[in-house]
Amino acid sequence: MIIFNNVTKKYGDNVGLIDASVHIKSGDFVFLVGPSGAGKTTFIRLILKEIDPDSGRIILAGKDITKIGRREIPAIRQKIGMVFQDFRLLEKKTVYENVAFAMEVLHKSKREIRERVPYVLDLVDIKDKANRYPAELSAGEQQRVGIARALVNKPRVLICDEPTGNLDPITAMDIMALLEQINIRGTTVLMVTHAKDIVDKMNKRVVAIDQGHIVRDEEGSYGYKQQGTEDDLYVPGFTSFTDDPIKARTMQLDPELTESIRGKTISMDPPTGDELYSILDEYLDGGDDSYE
Ligand SMILES: Nc1ncnc2c1ncn2[C@@H]1O[C@H](COP(=O)(O)OP(=O)(O)OP(=O)(O)O)[C@@H](O)[C@H]1O
Ligand SMILES: [Mg+2]
Repeated sequence: MIIFNNVTKKYGDNVGLIDASVHIKSGDFVFLVGPSGAGKTTFIRLILKEIDPDSGRIILAGKDITKIGRREIPAIRQKIGMVFQDFRLLEKKTVYENVAFAMEVLHKSKREIRERVPYVLDLVDIKDKANRYPAELSAGEQQRVGIARALVNKPRVLICDEPTGNLDPITAMDIMALLEQINIRGTTVLMVTHAKDIVDKMNKRVVAIDQGHIVRDEEGSYGYKQQGTEDDLYVPGFTSFTDDPIKARTMQLDPELTESIRGKTISMDPPTGDELYSILDEYLDGGDDSYE
């Protein structure tokens, strides 16, 4: 899905990435971690082709994006859904309009928009607030809208840049549960985060960058301390997160999934029967993995 082959990017004397090689497969859930200035944003900007590497190859959905022309960039970006820490919703548009707008800019038909928007709002469980404005929503609700907007054009990969950075720990885990559901049903997820506790609890693949180098790439935990002491939290509040299932409140999730959120082994059959899941199924219908 995303391949970095010996990618180097410098900004003058500043190191962005050095000889980075990473292979993110279709369907992966990957955390990208590392200290401030490590090269995480550089990594994402390279995928979005906002910047080009000095050397190396970057393959996105089967295409070497270091070789494509300007005119092909919009098509590449449509394969990617972006979720931001600060949500980046349009304040003067309702929830519905915010999500619809992402389709309008791609000149999708009115009919398609009418069908698709309620569907993704349902997917992220915010349909009942479709006519509200962002200022009338909680932070967690706003992030759900952000995720709906990122998904509305059926991207192959969801890139989340500190998506829980502005959320309290419980809401953050709700959002993580949603991202996990989206991932389970096939969308690749790449998430930049400083939230050590979330990374440890989710028990997914972790790619760690430091001073432009990929220093670790393995399943499991955050793995190293960023600033030296146990007290240096990356996001305040996450250290006190408990294993209490009530506190680890998730959306309409089955117990097995809750287990995985609490840092245990992930083994879950795709849930069936529930409306949310059938919606997810339909959403992923036609998802094309033929590039891999
Ligand atoms: N446009 C730029 N011009 C010059 N140097 C840059 C530019 N963008 C990033 N850098 C430098 O490249 C290095 C990597 O930056 P990057 O933004 O990728 O780090 P990061 O891991 O995203 O950090 P943070 O966690 O603080 O967001 C840093 O030393 C940064 O100062
Ligand atoms: Mg950054």
